[in-house]
Amino acid sequence: MFSPTGELVAAARRAGGGVGAFNVITLEHAEAIVAGAESAGRPVILQLSQNAVRFHHGRLGPIAAAARAVASASTVPVGLHLDHVDDEPLIAQAADNGFGSVMVDASKLDYAGNVAATARAVRLLHSQGLWVESELGEVGGKDGAHAPGVRTDPEEAARYVAETGVDGLAVAVGSSHAMTTRTAVLDHDLIGRLRAAVPVPLVLHGSSGVPDGELANAVRGGLVKINIGTALNTAFTAAVRERLAADASVVDPRKYVAPARDAMAAVVAHLLTVIG
Ligand code: G3H
Ligand code: ZN
Repeated sequence: MFSPTGELVAAARRAGGGVGAFNVITLEHAEAIVAGAESAGRPVILQLSQNAVRFHHGRLGPIAAAARAVASASTVPVGLHLDHVDDEPLIAQAADNGFGSVMVDASKLDYAGNVAATARAVRLLHSQGLWVESELGEVGGKDGAHAPGVRTDPEEAARYVAETGVDGLAVAVGSSHAMTTRTAVLDHDLIGRLRAAVPVPLVLHGSSGVPDGELANAVRGGLVKINIGTALNTAFTAAVRERLAADASVVDPRKYVAPARDAMAAVVAHLLTVIG
């Protein structure tokens, strides 16, 4: 069943656990994420990034409706989140398209610009009842903010949350987007200091590159929403490659997309048990 992101994050936080938020690119991603969550018996968040919307010819409606329908048909609670958005007209479409939350990504702006853009989006999204996540802008763009060497300062993070009114904060603690090896080392001391300084739930981006033990420690240390994308695509693409290499005569996409979807579901189920 569909469940608002704010409720899923709050429930995970109360329980001292984490909630997995997985990136949807195709309908099969959404199906796989929900299948994995159902087999793990855990809630989950489906998230669509602005980049994924661009892939769907810039049309939010069809892929959002598909993801929302997959969420509604699920036997476990499933949230729907719009991820890494810097396009204000797209932010304005979130509520009408069934999203329970948005990550406002003003990280390319300087501190003052980030605060102004994020606070503006927060006012709109809160008036529509949505939960809002964002990240600090001083450390730069998407990959810059989550490059392994970049760190979020606890004092500044606390001030930023107070000035913007966001409900969740993405923090840079050693992970990096789009890693295909699980070799990231997190700064657990910093996670503890951020948790003490920042009143809202903390979000880990670029979690595909974080090994199981590090992820479990991060959740124990106070990270609540755990964003994962690349790990699913690695599994999907490996399965497709294997099928096509095994049989050059295949033309029906179901023959290689079905095992790819199963491979993603297995990754989701495993990671949800790690962060649960
Ligand atoms: O917002 C999405 C996540 O940060 C995904 O990052 O693809 O490196 O797992 P990842
Ligand atoms: Zn991210």
